[in-house]
Amino acid sequence: MADVLIAPSILSADFARLGEEVRAIDTAGADWIHVDVMDGHFVPNLTIGPGVVKALRPHTKKVMDVHLMIAPVDPYIPAFAEAGADIITVHAEAGAHLDRSLQVIRALGKKAGVSLNPGTPESVLEYVMDRLDLILVMSVNPGFGGQAFIPAMVEKIKRIKAMIGDRDITIEVDGGINPETAPDVVAAGATALVAGSAVFGGDYGDRIAAIRESCASL
Ligand code: DX5
Ligand code: ZN
Repeated sequence: MADVLIAPSILSADFARLGEEVRAIDTAGADWIHVDVMDGHFVPNLTIGPGVVKALRPHTKKVMDVHLMIAPVDPYIPAFAEAGADIITVHAEAGAHLDRSLQVIRALGKKAGVSLNPGTPESVLEYVMDRLDLILVMSVNPGFGGQAFIPAMVEKIKRIKAMIGDRDITIEVDGGINPETAPDVVAAGATALVAGSAVFGGDYGDRIAAIRESCASL
């Protein structure tokens, strides 16, 4: 059975009850809590900042997987680290100095991730591979929940898996993940799955279990 980590995205949660929602997905079997940070500039939407991550931190002991869709990103990394993020992921497209951003994250004692938009080739990873704990493959154009999965990303995941070789780097996929799309990305090499609308659209426990079970035979 494929060992898959499910990271519900709180972008699809009720923002008026975020602490309660985080406790609910924790109890429902989430492995990680995925936090989408958007700046209205790098992506066409605005969400939350480090103050919300800090406020949510006491509500769960699970990994806080913080996805920064902001540019510039470097000035804000320390605030998210102090707020209690465990994984901090930056976008390869967000600035000229990806290598520096990754060094900053690890120097703060956090796991470092890089995310690629659907149109960004995996070759940008080549010279930063040894600074990475996680690669977040966007399978929608970031900005909003509830968009359709882009099938071409399955081939990208396969190529990234080959590039990783025997390094200890997690491939996480974000966007349009549900029990129909999850098996393809897991078969390609993903081991962490972000899911927003697919989890928050019904009973959280049932929805998380359904995604997990869809990959069980792989
Ligand atoms: C998109 C975000 C995703 C989003 C996923 O910009 O990074 O994490 O919430 O939502 P679904 O699972 O609904 O595509
Ligand atoms: Zn995300």
